[in-house]
Amino acid sequence: MARILTGIQSTGVPHLGNILGAIIPAIKRSKVKGNESFLFIADFHSLTQIKNAESLKKNTLYTASAWLSFGLDTKKSVFYRQSDIPQVTELSWYLSCFYPYQRLTLSHSFKDKSDNLKDVNSGLFNYPVLMAADILLYDANLVPVGKDQLQHLEITRDIASRFNNQFGETFVTPKAELEQNSNFVIGTDGNKMSKSKNNLIDIFQDDNLLEKQIMKIETNSIPVDEAKNPKNCNIFKIFSLIAEKKDVDVMRKRYLSGNIGFGEAKKVLLNEIKTKFKIERDKFNFLINNPEIVEQELENGSKKAKIFANEVLKRVRLKLGYNK
Ligand code: ADP
Ligand code: TRP
Repeated sequence: MARILTGIQSTGVPHLGNILGAIIPAIKRSKVKGNESFLFIADFHSLTQIKNAESLKKNTLYTASAWLSFGLDTKKSVFYRQSDIPQVTELSWYLSCFYPYQRLTLSHSFKDKSDNLKDVNSGLFNYPVLMAADILLYDANLVPVGKDQLQHLEITRDIASRFNNQFGETFVTPKAELEQNSNFVIGTDGNKMSKSKNNLIDIFQDDNLLEKQIMKIETNSIPVDEAKNPKNCNIFKIFSLIAEKKDVDVMRKRYLSGNIGFGEAKKVLLNEIKTKFKIERDKFNFLINNPEIVEQELENGSKKAKIFANEVLKRVRLKLGYNK
C-alpha cells in the first residue's frame, strides 16, 4: 500500500497551471485503490515569507477551497492544515539535531531564495528540515514532487537513515516520485504559468476579470481569414489542455482553414473554461463565502492526522529518552 503525502504551498488562489498540474492529478491519485493520501496546507512554511495574519488565513481558505471544489474526498484522504498539528515543529527540532549544519548550507532552494528575497530568515534555512518532519511524522512512503523539491526529499531520506542507523528502525524512508511536468501549462504570455509572473489564468474569479485575462493572451497578428498554425498559438495550446478531443479537432480545422480569428478563439476558450469548470467555480465561490465549512473540513482532517502524528512522535521520544 502506498501512503502518499503532498504538501501544498498556500500562496494565493491556485491558478489554472496549479489546477491541471497538481490538484487534478493528486485527486485522481487519491482515488486509486490501495493509495492512502495525506494532503496538507503547508502554512508553517508560508511564514518564511508571509508575516500577515489576514493573508495567511485567506491563502489557506483559497487553497483549501480550490482542492475541495475539485472534488477531493476528505473521507478517503487526510486533508489538513500543517499548523493544526504543531507536533511537526517538535519533530523538526529533533531532526535538526541529527543533520549536519554544513549539509544544509548546500541546499539549492535556500541559495535561490536567499539571492532573491529581502527577508532571509533562519526559517528559510531550516525549511528542508521542517519538510522532512512533515513527511516522517506520517510514515509516508511516497512523495510526489517537482524537480525543485527533489533535493529536499534526499535530505529527508538522509535524516531518516541517520536516525534509523543510530536508534534502529524508527522512520519510514520515503521515496520521491518525480512529477512529469514536461507539458506544463502556459500562461497568457506563452511562458510557464506562474504566480511570480504576470501571466495567470485564475478560473475562480468572476466572469469579467476572467474575460480580461483571456483577452490578454498574446497572439501574433494574422488576419481573420488567413490559415493559422494551431501549434504556434497560445490560445489553442491552452484550449487543447481543457476541451474534449472532438472540440479540439474542430478548432484545429478552423485554424488551418483560416476560419477563425484570434478574438473569436479567445471567446471560445473563455466559454470552454466557464462551461467545463462551472461546478468547481460555483463550489469555490460558495466555500469562500462559507469559510466555516472549509474550517470544519480542515479540523476533521487534523483530528485524523493527529492520531498518526502522536504515534510517530511517541516512537521518537522513546528512542531519545523524552518518554516518561
Ligand atoms: P507557482 O509556479 O505559480 O509558484 P507552485 O510552485 O506553487 O506554482 O506550484 C504548485 C504546484 O503546481 C506544483 O505541483 C507545480 O508543479 C504545479 N504547477 C505550477 N505551475 C504549473 C504550470 N504552469 N503547469 C503545470 N503545473 C504547474
Ligand atoms: N516545499 C514544498 C513546495 O514548495 C511544499 C511542502 C512542504 C511539501 N512540506 C512538504 C511537499 C512535504 C511535499 C512534502 O512545494
